[in-house]
Amino acid sequence: MQAPDLLARPSSRAACGSFAAAGPAGPATESAMTSIPAPSIPPTMTAIAIRAPGGPEVLVPEERPVPTPGRGEILVKVEAAGVNRPDVMQRKGLYPPPPGASDIPGLEIAGTVVATGPDSTRWTRGDRVMALVSGGGYADYCIADETHALPIPPDLAPTEAAAVPETAFTVWHNVFERGGLQRGETLLVHGGSSGIGTMAIQLAKAFGATVIVTAGSEEKCEACRRLGADVAVNYRTEDFVAAVKQATGGAGANVILDMVGGDYIARNWSAAAVEGRIVQIAFQASPKATVDFSRVMLKRLHHTGSTLRSRAAADKAAIARAVERQVWPLIAAGRVRPVMDRTYPLAEAAAAHARMESSLHIGKIVLTA
Ligand SMILES: NC(=O)c1ccc[n+]([C@@H]2O[C@H](COP(=O)([O-])OP(=O)(O)OC[C@H]3O[C@@H](n4cnc5c(N)ncnc54)[C@H](OP(=O)(O)O)[C@@H]3O)[C@@H](O)[C@H]2O)c1
Repeated sequence: MQAPDLLARPSSRAACGSFAAAGPAGPATESAMTSIPAPSIPPTMTAIAIRAPGGPEVLVPEERPVPTPGRGEILVKVEAAGVNRPDVMQRKGLYPPPPGASDIPGLEIAGTVVATGPDSTRWTRGDRVMALVSGGGYADYCIADETHALPIPPDLAPTEAAAVPETAFTVWHNVFERGGLQRGETLLVHGGSSGIGTMAIQLAKAFGATVIVTAGSEEKCEACRRLGADVAVNYRTEDFVAAVKQATGGAGANVILDMVGGDYIARNWSAAAVEGRIVQIAFQASPKATVDFSRVMLKRLHHTGSTLRSRAAADKAAIARAVERQVWPLIAAGRVRPVMDRTYPLAEAAAAHARMESSLHIGKIVLTA
């Protein structure tokens, strides 16, 4: 599948370089920090640790050493950090950090570069970036691979910038690169009012697709319609398979972004068009299902999926470059905007997680450092 390539690359001081291996984290030292006087960076910082697997209350502030950027890395003074469902899974002990990643939760940040590691060439001290990180976002300072950082688009508040990387990278890769969504096709997005869903609606509309979403209340359906969704289905009261068939004249959805699994797996195959692509990004119901594979054969379906966090750094760098080329200009032009639910001070990370688990939110929850 070929992802659409409709937009020009935004101007930036340098192109994303190739990945250089991460160095070990440890206390900040003047020798490792090439671009800021050591006294500006304190030796320790506040971070939100997971005391033990459990409810939101296990998120507790701790003093930790400020990490040192390794090869190809930058140290960012965090102004805001996005909260994502995978953070909740990590807190519960169901989604351990990959080897080498920080045990501090937080997969996306926005802030100012305060130091660069050896061989880090793109950014200098004072640059304002938003970055995908493999952990450590819930802290005053965070390390990012320099190739996973993007400039903050003009007019985007730090809280909004922190809400971009995880959703933009995930949606771009899964809907456009894996799902191959094309102009004129129909995308079905489950969880349309989620952080991921609200980004998927906007990007799919910007690239000329018809968008059908599912959401769990009329209020959420209405929010999705306001964002541009052509059809919003309340999955608690309506059958999304029938709704998709009706909305597409019986043809079905060309691409389906699913974060539910369970009985949605067979129902997605029913809702899919011939040659449809189903992309699995989570299993909020169950990863297991008893299914009739004849549908895959008869409709020539493709069922794929991916997780972002465990991908090789070079893969994430490639996604970052695609996002910078295809998504960044839309954000800079104000055509795509993160949908903000609430912000909480870093110290209230537990309340932010409780909000996410209440499922009352629409769009993104963000922590401010
Ligand atoms: N694979 C990856 O790389 C990757 C990366 C990031 C996120 N994710 C996954 O993507 C999902 C969204 O993440 P997020 O951070 O945006 O979380 P979020 O805002 O909490 O979204 C979760 C969404 O799931 C929806 N949902 C739950 N059960 C549903 C059902 N039966 N039918 C339809 N929708 C249902 C919820 O809708 P209601 O509240 O309306 O019930 C809610 O909108 C999470 O499952 C997360 O783990 C995957």
